[in-house]
Amino acid sequence: MMYKQVIIFTLLAVFLNPLSANATSAGELLALTCSSCHGTKGVSHGPATPSIAGLSKNYIIASMLSYKHIDNLDHAQDIVDERKNLDDVVILKRSATIMTRIAKAYSIEEIEKLADYFSSQKITLAVQDSDKDQAKKGEKLHDRYCEKCHEEGGIKPDDDVGLLAGQWQDYLRNSMHDFRNSDREMPKKMRNKIDKMVKKKGANSIEALIQYYASQK
Ligand code: HEC
Ligand code: HEC
Repeated sequence: MMYKQVIIFTLLAVFLNPLSANATSAGELLALTCSSCHGTKGVSHGPATPSIAGLSKNYIIASMLSYKHIDNLDHAQDIVDERKNLDDVVILKRSATIMTRIAKAYSIEEIEKLADYFSSQKITLAVQDSDKDQAKKGEKLHDRYCEKCHEEGGIKPDDDVGLLAGQWQDYLRNSMHDFRNSDREMPKKMRNKIDKMVKKKGANSIEALIQYYASQK
């Protein structure tokens, strides 16, 4: 065989070999569609689109199913209850114009693959401006009202609570707005803490918390 033909043959073999195709996981291929908004490997350039790299698998699955089945959340809960590996996933309402449309295109199997892929990517904190004084106030508020569930300053996603530290501040502000408007369902105990905090420290305390999360580098 000519030298050139050998190269072409080898290249073809690499492309056609199902084993080498596996080197790019199904999750990674599916994730290409997400990268136009959420950035390469889930690290978003902001400002209102969240980074999803390093979120917990269960949290991503719960979010996607809630978006997908926004009109029938009981059905979404049934889907996870029926699957042994997902039986501790809790579906909470999440209204969102873009994601409710996108999530409809994915089966539960594909959602699991996407969740595997993004949960195994490295968390990268967004570089953004923040107000120092507010951030200091926010840190104290966080320790008192939020740290119990959002551990280590809001960067430990293991508890299936999302990511606060280094998340884009516009996204966090929108999320807090949605929670307080009930466009997004808050866990009951989180609502209690936030109501208590706002009553005691005023509505500005929420912005102080956001500045604290934005200040973490
Ligand atoms: C057209 C832009 C766009 C595309 C494409 C997109 N997203 Fe999103 N995504 C968003 C926005 C904006 C939000 C914030 C929605 C909200 O307000 O709740 C979001 C939120 C999310 C969240 C919740 C994050 C959190 O911290 O709670 C997850 C999970 C998510 N997207 C996964 C995906 C996956 C997986 C894909 C690919 C299949 C994808 N997205 C494609 C724009 C997009
Ligand atoms: C009792 C536990 C608990 C407490 C206390 C709590 N949270 Fe949460 N938080 C959660 C859970 C669970 C979720 C995930 C909700 C979901 O699945 O949509 C969450 C989600 C969030 C999110 C959305 C994250 C994302 O990626 O979209 C924000 C923002 C947030 N919490 C802020 C706070 C703040 C600020 C405080 C303190 C004032 C607080 N939480 C206190 C349990 C708690």
